[in-house]
Order: sequence, then C-alpha cells, then structure tokens
Amino acid sequence: MHHFEAKRGELHCEGVPLRRIAEAAGTPAYVYSHATLSQHYRVFDEAFAGIPHIVCYSMKANSNGSVIRTFTNMGSGVDIVSAGEVCRALAAGAPPSKIVYSGVGKQVFEIEEALRNGILMFNVESREELETIDAVAGRMRKRAPIALRVNPDVDPKTHPYISTGLKKNKFGIHIDQAIRDYEWAARRRNIEVVGVDCHIGSQLTEISPFVDAAARVRLLVEKLLRKGMPIRIVDIGGGLGITYNDELPPHPKQYADAVVSAFSGLSVTLVLEPGRVLVGNAGILLTRVLYTKGAAALKGNGKKHFFIVDAAMNDLARPSLYGSYHAVVPVGRAPGKRTVADVVGPICESGDFLAKDRRLPLYRSGDLLAIMSAGAYGFSMSSNYNSRPRAAEVMVSGTRFEVVREREAAKDLSKGERTASFLAGRGKTRGRIL
Ligand code: LLP
Repeated sequence: MHHFEAKRGELHCEGVPLRRIAEAAGTPAYVYSHATLSQHYRVFDEAFAGIPHIVCYSMKANSNGSVIRTFTNMGSGVDIVSAGEVCRALAAGAPPSKIVYSGVGKQVFEIEEALRNGILMFNVESREELETIDAVAGRMRKRAPIALRVNPDVDPKTHPYISTGLKKNKFGIHIDQAIRDYEWAARRRNIEVVGVDCHIGSQLTEISPFVDAAARVRLLVEKLLRKGMPIRIVDIGGGLGITYNDELPPHPKQYADAVVSAFSGLSVTLVLEPGRVLVGNAGILLTRVLYTKGAAALKGNGKKHFFIVDAAMNDLARPSLYGSYHAVVPVGRAPGKRTVADVVGPICESGDFLAKDRRLPLYRSGDLLAIMSAGAYGFSMSSNYNSRPRAAEVMVSGTRFEVVREREAAKDLSKGERTASFLAGRGKTRGRIL
C-alpha cells in the first residue's frame, strides 16, 4: 500500500504532483509520503495489539529525522546500530526506554553513549562483546540490560547479503551455546539479563522461517526461565519483506499472528524491529532523464535503449549491489511507443544502473521518472561517489510538501578535508616528504 498514484495523467504523492516537487527541490530527490509511513506503522503496531509489545523502528532503513519523528510521534521506539544512530534517534524524539542496540561490533565509546542515555537493552552478539559491556558498565557504575542475539540456524530464503540467521553468517551466538553465555552473564554484577534476541534476515517473503526461528527461541526462553533467569523481553528482529515487483510477502497481521502464537502463554514483552516494511514503499526516488541513446540492434530484433538519468548508484545502491528490482514509473504522460531499455546513471561504471532490460516507454530527455519502493535502504546507503552531492529529501503530507534534508552543496563534499601541509606551499617542501 502506498500513496503514489497517477491522477489526470500525472503521478502524485498524496495531493502533490511530483512534477511540482521536482521544480521546487530539483532532482534527484527522495520523496516520502507521510500518510503511507503513518498507515504502515499503524497497521504493523495494531497487528500486535493482543500482546505487550514495543515496535522499535530499525532506523538504518531510513534515518531521516522527519521519518523517525513520524514513528516516535506514534509511540515507536528505535532499533539502533551505532552511537551516531543513538544521537539521531534521541534527536527525533525516541524515548531511551524504547531504544534497543543491535550490531556485531559495538565500540567502547558507543557502549558508553548508550549506557549514559539509559537504553532499553543491548542485543549482544558475542562473548567478547558481553565482557566488554560488563567492563564498561563496571567503570561507569551501571548495570547494562542485555539480551543475547542468538543465531537459530534457520534459512530465511533471501538474498545472501541480507541473510543473517544461518550458522555460517557472522551474526549472533549459536543458539546451542547461548545458555553457557547467559549463565556467565547472570553472575556479573554489572549486567542485567532481561531478554533474548534474534533477527534472521531481511526482505523475507515467506512466513515459515519466522515461525521456525520463533519456535527455537521459545525453547531457549523456556530453558532460561527454568534456570531462574528473569527473561521478560523477546526481540524477534525485523525482516518482513515488501512488494518490489511480484513478491507476495505475508501481511503484517499474518506475521504478527504467527509470532504471537509462538510465544503464547509466556509473560514477555515482544520487541519488533521492522525497517523496510514501514518505509520501503513510502518513498520514491525522483529523477530526470538527461539523455537517451539507442545501442546497436540486439540479437533477435529491436534495439536496446539507454535512458541516462540524473540519479545514480551513489543515490540508490540496491540495484548495483543486490541486483534489486525497482519499478520505474513515468511522472507525466508517457510516450505510447515502447522499447527495451536500461535506466542508468552518470557514474563511470557499468554497474551503475537503476533498472536493466525493462520494457519501457520511449522516454525523452527532460522526462521525469519515479524509481519506486526506494524508501528503505535508499538515501541511508547513498554516498558521494564521483563527488556527487547527496540528494534532497522531501516529505509530503496531504497537499503540503517540505524539504526535510537539503541537497548537499559542492562545499559539503570537502567538509573536514585539509590539504597536507607538505603540499600547501608548492615547491617549498620538496624533498622533505621522505
Ligand atoms: N534488526 C536487525 C538486527 C537488522 O540487522 C536489520 C536489518 C533490521 C532489524 C531491519 O530489517 P528489515 O525489517 O528492514 O528487513 N541494505 C539491505 C538490507 C540490509 C538489512 C540489514 N539489517 C537492502 O537494501 O536490502
């Protein structure tokens, strides 16, 4: 579900024609629908209404302050993975008591920052990390609330780069070894064991891996409770997939029902860490065709075209990195004639494409296109490669829109950079470098 629709031949975001946004904010620009974000959050949260739960939005999917604020205004917590994310989550109104801290490589300064702010819990991924958290908390005279992230060895059947719940992945502590680490943690004065955590991967389009993982986690929770450990939180991570093309992922209600029934009868609070399902289809990347060219006739018949647009792999890395599909939709009336084409960016790599071998209208220079389902892992994974300023971000609500992050300027590209002193006065320092 989303609020990007064609009305009178023009693609709108809610009540605003995307053409107007392109004129006001320029392209490339990410455009987010506030109505879609809110509706996704509401549907997800209400799906778990029958059980005590905290939705902790996984802000790595989209860390724009206005996006986070949309959710925190509705009662959301945040799943973070760095000290930078702690700061941005707090700035966007997340209560520390609803922040969970995930990730395999938490550093001492990051653990300190999280402890200073009194977060809900650390999802700990190794024995060494547990020892570090214990030591840091000891120095700060605090008790660190922890869950161990267990790896249930379940195949999430998703892209290998975003699958995390298999034994061969770098994530978590193997579920069979977890008891030993829990027993160690329970004896530490500066650690408070509060929960169990698990996240098996992203863009899951089937329910069975979630059910299998939940069943294994439940067995562990029961064992821990029998050993007298006060487990009161079960965090089952994120990972629910969305429709990019023709995928049919489970509805949040189906997903919630499966998860809730897996933990029925236990008095625990569920923590959920959805990212993509909340923001993925709530955002598009708005781009303009710069040039078009027809390549030599392909084998068989027809010519292959290239539409060279002003967005590139630095703006949206997913197609290049994972071969991901994003639908390409015209913003205005499209030419009737169609062709097979790649939509490519200006970057000097053949891997720089947003869409490959698609049957598309024969676009012309100046046409505006919407790269759909770009709200998750779009801007948040963007970079300055080729010294391209990062895109503007715009949020729409009804008939209003606002730039919620300005397009970077040329001066931002060299922010913090200095010319080495031995290069500054040309000639003067020659010979002294070695
Ligand atoms: N919790 C943890 C511990 C995670 O590692 C992730 C995502 C999430 C929650 C949120 O997962 P989601 O609900 O969004 O599936 N860049 C990739 C996705 C990487 C996912 C990383 N972890 C992509 O563009 O597909």
